[in-house]
Amino acid sequence: MANETNTLGKSVSRVDGRLKVTGAARYAADQTGRNIAHAWLIKSRIGRGRITAFDTAEAEKLPGVLGLWSHKKAPRLFLTGDNFMDGNILGEKALPLQNDQILYHGQTIGFVVAESLEIARQAAGLVRVRYEEKPPVVAWEKPGVKTVEPAQVDFQPAKLTRTAESGADFAALLDGAEVKVEATYLTPLQHHVAMEPHATVAEWDDDRLTLHNCSQWMTGQQRTMAEVLGIPSECVRVVCPFLGGGFGCKATIWWPAALAAFAARELKRAVKIVTTREQTFNTNGHRPGTLQTLQLGASKDGRIQALRHTVLSTSSEITEFVEPAAHRTSVNFYSVPNVEVAHKLAVLNVGAPTWMRAPGETPGMFALESAMDELALALGTDPLELRLRNYAEQDLQKKVPFSFKHLRECYEKGAAAIGWSERSPEPRQKRDGDWLIGLGMASACYPGYRMPSSARVRLLADGTAVVGSATHDLGTGMYTIMTQVAAEALGLPLDKVRAELGDSSLPPATVAGGSMSTASVMPAVQAAAASLKRKLAALATRDPKSPLKGAKADEVQFADGQISAGERREPMQAVIGRAGLAALEATESSAPGDEGKKYSFYSYGAHFVEVKVHALTGEIRVSRIVSAMDIGRVLNAKTARSQVIGGVIGGLGMALMEESLLDPKTARIVTADLGAYHVPVNADVPPIEVFFTDKPDLNFNPLGARGVGEIGITGVAAAVANAVWHATGVRVRDLPITPEKIFEQAPARAAV
Ligand code: MOS
Repeated sequence: MANETNTLGKSVSRVDGRLKVTGAARYAADQTGRNIAHAWLIKSRIGRGRITAFDTAEAEKLPGVLGLWSHKKAPRLFLTGDNFMDGNILGEKALPLQNDQILYHGQTIGFVVAESLEIARQAAGLVRVRYEEKPPVVAWEKPGVKTVEPAQVDFQPAKLTRTAESGADFAALLDGAEVKVEATYLTPLQHHVAMEPHATVAEWDDDRLTLHNCSQWMTGQQRTMAEVLGIPSECVRVVCPFLGGGFGCKATIWWPAALAAFAARELKRAVKIVTTREQTFNTNGHRPGTLQTLQLGASKDGRIQALRHTVLSTSSEITEFVEPAAHRTSVNFYSVPNVEVAHKLAVLNVGAPTWMRAPGETPGMFALESAMDELALALGTDPLELRLRNYAEQDLQKKVPFSFKHLRECYEKGAAAIGWSERSPEPRQKRDGDWLIGLGMASACYPGYRMPSSARVRLLADGTAVVGSATHDLGTGMYTIMTQVAAEALGLPLDKVRAELGDSSLPPATVAGGSMSTASVMPAVQAAAASLKRKLAALATRDPKSPLKGAKADEVQFADGQISAGERREPMQAVIGRAGLAALEATESSAPGDEGKKYSFYSYGAHFVEVKVHALTGEIRVSRIVSAMDIGRVLNAKTARSQVIGGVIGGLGMALMEESLLDPKTARIVTADLGAYHVPVNADVPPIEVFFTDKPDLNFNPLGARGVGEIGITGVAAAVANAVWHATGVRVRDLPITPEKIFEQAPARAAV
């Protein structure tokens, strides 16, 4: 592999793999030395109310305490413009430590910096806080909860009705359908629980800040931090070469990072803050809970005539956040002529929610794809057949065709691999001793996004190249794919190319989120490589000492580290060496054109799941998963597969384990550690077979590659719920699916 140039599409191991498994990769919290001072957060112990006393006398007397900020000594920070498109966004959109108001349990109410972590923590414990407490709003899933309508959901109105005939009465269309199902589904609040908790080291050199910070968005965090501190963007550099998981919670700036930067400037010392596992649960975002009602009306032949999807999602008093569960699924996933979606928020006293892997699609596809199974049952139609009857070639909401959609092939491949044709239409038909066995399936989807990005390619005089972009690799394989694309474009072996990312001083790129890094950054890498080759060709063909002297530009080729024109050739670096240069470089940007007006871009997929449910204990084991994905062209079969299985495992956690619970009295998150917040471990994960259609989407970008980061999680929870129904005859509509919930509804209460 080491010497291969043409590696695109192949299974290439992570180029950063060795650094990671040997512990050589340096994460934000690994920044040491340089006389670093340590910070600790003081957090509210009530869920709602105000601070009546905040006595810091004892804490400030503790030797080694360097600074203590609270609403009584407020840090001077500025709220940002909060505009995603400008790359400017805060996780929690209210300045910290500015007043005595408490809006959630665990709200940061103080920030201590000391010579050591131990002293900072001890000082925090010495601060005496008194509160005036009000009952927090915590309950949201029960009838009668107070709701508000958000101004927008995914840039669309909160309530949206589309009928095939304009002005038709949607309610009457739904009512008049031959076969109807209605069901309500619940997904709880969830947390990202990245292995690496949030960490920051803030260091000033005169008026310039270097921020070692967990970051999926180098330029976004740079701009946001600059605004928060009231300094120019050029004065902030965000550095983060490695992340131990992000899943959306490391895109925005969270306040501890800004407090560290502020304190470091005040104290003229580098300041480090590492969020504890428990603190990540209320400091760094979560996925909202959702309560979703699906109403489907179909003709007897299984064509859905009308679909209504209403969503109540949780938000927070401190920051409004909308999890667009219906707007990003039901409006266009199936070919349904009459659709209505509506969204409301229940505003709770919790920390700010944020993006979490496929925000919207993940809870939305659980509800939609569970309801499709329920409709299939009502119709007496095979669940897969029902999906095929309502297959959409056109995006009826955007009124354009879907681009290179091969979902049908995903259904076929997945069904064949799992043995779908052998599945009984009735539940509870297959047993293995005490285990009931069931098969379920569900569709997956995630939009194909692309945003402007740039990259730089440098060819060095030693014959190696460096490709750089301020993008990120949050475990996605970006280092590897950038290396592959640059190597192929330059005609260099893989081991002669090195990728640089995770630094805002590199050429700007979009957020490593929205599954769009490959689609956005790789065209820029290709453009920069092409530009570099033009420069090199110009040098060579003008150089009297080059064998290529006088060759025409369009004759010049690059392969195997050589520049050639017909039979004439020499190593690329020879051209640079003779020119007396250390390196030759080119930087280019790439942005989508107006293709988004002509096509609707999505990645698609289908999950097929086998579960075994123990008839006596209700234990649920997922025994097999097949995931067939249409992500356009696959650039690296190994890292793409890793993305899908990572997403699928997230979906298994959602289906069977993950749930963040709030104490009804205090609004404290009581599941704030990995002992209480369960995620799948290896023993919970069955073999996962991943198929790709691997057909380029050339409408989308020159590489034909759409996104793969998020789609893997979408639909998994529905596929598991559908399989649990098939095994047991019990339909569980609220996640996670636990033995108790199965027994609650089991035909015989003593056993499933
Ligand atoms: Mo993802 S939730 O766009 O990091």
